[in-house]
Order: sequence, then C-alpha cells, then structure tokens
Amino acid sequence: MQVLNTLLQDFSSELSKVQKVADLLNLKSKYIGKQGPLSDVMKNLKDATPEERKTIGAKANEVKGAIEELVSKKMLELEVQEINENLAKDKIDISLTDAVLEKGLQAAGYHPVTIIQKEIEDIFISMGFEVLDGPHIEDDYHNFEALNIPDTHPARDMQDTFWFADKKHLLRTHTSTIQVRGMKTRKPPFRFVGPGKVFRCERTDASHEMVFHQLEGMMVGEDVSVGNLIYFMKTLLTEIFKREVEVRLRPGFFPFVEPGFELDIKCLICGGKGCSVCKQVGWVELLPCGMVHPNVLRHGGIDPEKNSGFAFGLGLDRLVMMRYGIDDIRHLHGADLRFNSQFKSF
Ligand code: PHE
Repeated sequence: MQVLNTLLQDFSSELSKVQKVADLLNLKSKYIGKQGPLSDVMKNLKDATPEERKTIGAKANEVKGAIEELVSKKMLELEVQEINENLAKDKIDISLTDAVLEKGLQAAGYHPVTIIQKEIEDIFISMGFEVLDGPHIEDDYHNFEALNIPDTHPARDMQDTFWFADKKHLLRTHTSTIQVRGMKTRKPPFRFVGPGKVFRCERTDASHEMVFHQLEGMMVGEDVSVGNLIYFMKTLLTEIFKREVEVRLRPGFFPFVEPGFELDIKCLICGGKGCSVCKQVGWVELLPCGMVHPNVLRHGGIDPEKNSGFAFGLGLDRLVMMRYGIDDIRHLHGADLRFNSQFKSF
C-alpha cells in the first residue's frame, strides 16, 4: 500500500520532464511494465489476507488506470509537437536546386528585366509620374472595350489572346489596361506609368515570347501635346542608354490613340547592319505611342473637350536585350543560372 501511495506522484513528476515519445514509452514500462513496481505489488498479493487483497488490488488498478490515462494524454501532446517540429524542419524550397546549392549566394541577384523596370520607374518618378499596378487576369472591358476596341474590331486579331473558358476573362495582352484603371481613379491633370507582365498566344522565336513585359505610360491634362510626348520619350531613352540613340517615328495604328506612332531605335546589337533581333532591318520597334483617343478618355470618365493626353507602351524585354547585348529573348525565361547570375544590381 505504501508503494502504491507514492507511485502516482513519482510517475507524475518524472512525466513532466519527458520530451520524446520514446522516453514516454520507457517511463510507462518502468512504472507499469512487467518488471515495474506495480507488477511487484500484484505478485505479492498472494501473501496478503483476503481483506488486504481487496483494498490493495483496487488501489493498484486505480493507480494503473491513472498512469495509463496520463500516458495517453502525454502521447498525443508529444505526437502533435513532433509533427509540428518536422513540418517546420522539412519545408521544401523547390527553387533550391543543385545548381543553386553549388553556386550558393553568388547566384543571387535581380533579373535583368527587374533591373531595367526599376531604373525606368525611378526615371519617371523623378519626372513626377506615379507608378501603378494592375491585375494579370483582366476582363474584356479593361483589355479591349474601354480602349476603343469593340467586339467586332479587327484590331483584336493583332493580339492573340489567352482566353479563360468563361470567354469573359483573359490574361492581359498589354499594360494599357492600367490606363483604364488609372483614369477611372484620378482626376486630370495626372501622369503615371504601369509596368508588368503581359501574355500573348504567340509562336516563340529569338524575338517573341508568350510572356513578356511592358511599361505603360500616360499623361493627361488641359493641353498635353505631341511635343510633351516627344520630350518625355527622348529624356527616357537618353537616361536608359546613357548615350545618344538614333530614333525614328513612323505612323502606327492602335485603336486607343489618334494620331498613333511607332518609335524605333537603331539596333544597338548590330549598329544597324541587321541581325536576328532587328530581323535584319537595322531598326528595332521599341515604343508605340500616341495621343489618347477621345473615346478612351470618355471611358475613363474624362471630358475630351477639356483634356488631352498621350500614352505609350514600352517593351521592356527588347530594351533589356539592347542594353546587355542579349540575342535571344528566350534566355529571359530560361531560368539558366549561368545567364541569370550575370546580373546583380540596379
Ligand atoms: N498597348 C499597345 C500594345 O501592346 C501599345 C501601346 C500603348 C500603343 C500605348 C500606343 C499607346 O500593342
């Protein structure tokens, strides 16, 4: 009886120190296993009087039951704790490939498109522009309708679109969707840029990708003119290339601008002689732009009688290729560390 009286207490104090499932199982067998004190008590019962046997037997069962209950409670606690610890330890980083492990931190850096994007954002911020964001998944209205491209307009064929099964949503084909969102949420005068990924169902080659990057720009106010447009574009290109670049303006058609232009720069890879990037013409189409069409201003809640504006859509991937002398756009999404780790800062 004496042994039984202290057994539960001793067990409890040892139990509080247990941290592992294996230790708990050992403790359990130490107290109520075949070689344990409880078994001894039971074995010795045969020498007791029938009266003693009854009380001691009952007490022994009570203690055993209590210990078993404590063990199963603790077991649950420890199992949950171990699962949580393992989950925290075993986080799988799918980007941590052998190639990354081999190169270690040396491989870290910004993607060249990010470098150019941040640089251009900084240039525009310094000229008083805001930087806006927009969703990749858009609806027909923001991608086409509000940009003066109605349902039946042949210009829809210019941009091969990834439609969702509902035929209402799509992956935005251009960042001009940010024009619409920007106009609706501000009052003129305003100026902003909107960089981001765009998606087109295109056949890929050295100068075409299905996912590429644009930076949209828009300025609206009482007397914004083509002169303002040319000024900002010239300032931008001088800043980016840190040297004089030759440009040419051609008329260009986009339903959301009137008049519309194509601004080309002389190919910086071949110097105008012709290569795979400029498709042997010596010039690279860099910057479609124009004066915002009155219908587009109206969709944005802006009175075209009082305000005018310019807009442009800068292709960031071409710029990156020009700047770093990259001859195939597919390198940009190739995820090849030998390529990516050459670019480190902005
Ligand atoms: N959104 C057009 C495109 O991706 C580019 C553009 C933007 C043209 C702004 C004119 C003005 O094709």
